[in-house]
Amino acid sequence: MIEKIEQLIQEIESLKAASAEELEALRLKYLSKKGIINDLMADFRNVPVEQKKAVGQKLNELKTKAQDRINALKEVFDAQKAQGEKPDLTRTAYPAPLGTRHPLNIVKNEIIDIFSRLGFVLADGPEVEDDWHVFSSMNFAEDHPARDMQDTFFVESHPDIILRTHTSSVQSRVMEVTQPPIRIICPGRVYRNEAISYRAHCFFHQVEALYVDRNVSFSDLKQVLLYFAQEMFGQDTKIRLRPSYFPFTEPSAEMDISCNICGGKGCPFCKGTGWVEILGCGMVDPNVLELNGINSKEYTGFALGMGIERITNLKYQVKDLRMFSENDRRFLEEFESAN
Ligand code: DAH
Repeated sequence: MIEKIEQLIQEIESLKAASAEELEALRLKYLSKKGIINDLMADFRNVPVEQKKAVGQKLNELKTKAQDRINALKEVFDAQKAQGEKPDLTRTAYPAPLGTRHPLNIVKNEIIDIFSRLGFVLADGPEVEDDWHVFSSMNFAEDHPARDMQDTFFVESHPDIILRTHTSSVQSRVMEVTQPPIRIICPGRVYRNEAISYRAHCFFHQVEALYVDRNVSFSDLKQVLLYFAQEMFGQDTKIRLRPSYFPFTEPSAEMDISCNICGGKGCPFCKGTGWVEILGCGMVDPNVLELNGINSKEYTGFALGMGIERITNLKYQVKDLRMFSENDRRFLEEFESAN
């Protein structure tokens, strides 16, 4: 029996197959249930005890060699098959899925664009700020409610370090190192300690503008506001200013635009008034100029600040503020055409 097995081993070592079908036939011949090797295994019972060890070892050798040889031949066929499946280089490419710009970025860029046409340049400041730049230098009294725990996020171990509650802090950052003329536009994220709902969030975005020079007047401010409103919301847009109060401007105003959803006729969005508020503004308080190293006898200025979410809501009627920070692609993809 040993000789028979050795003969088979030799046979197997020189096995060849010209096709996958031939190889399968060989596999069946040697390795299947009814194949030669299994038959030999069945005969093993009849081998005399003293030969069992030697025959057993040979049989195992035969089986392993047969499996190895057939696997090796199979690999050759598999490789040939894979080569036959080369990619079709003439096929049209799949369109690469493009991302979309975030709606807040689309609107922010539009605002920057409009102001840059008037000569305003970008300025930036830190989001983690100190009390001086956010409040004191902006003429907030020591006991102003905006400094209150309820509005402001404090850094626990440093009561003087806070998350900025408005981008007006950038006004101070720029004025302390620059003499007029100053004409800046400052977009950025701000933080307030508010319960999150469809109409409030603990962070949102603002754009601040500041113009300081000789002879800057309220009529300059009005002209810039009108230009901005009409560029942003269309040439038919009207503006109106209502007196207001901010610590850093005097006089201060809030600007409404004619509701761009109903065209000023009155709708649920403008609560039937035909007007919607979009920003705060005013003449820079002389105290603010002095606190930041600018001579208020020589220079005057105006400032304005607006929420980017608010402008975006007006342009695109997003009803729930939380959509802006959830990164739901179905929402973001709706702005594909605005990119
Ligand atoms: N900082 C104000 C706020 O967060 C917005 C603002 C109002 C900015 C009037 C200004 C301004 O520059 O002049 O509500």
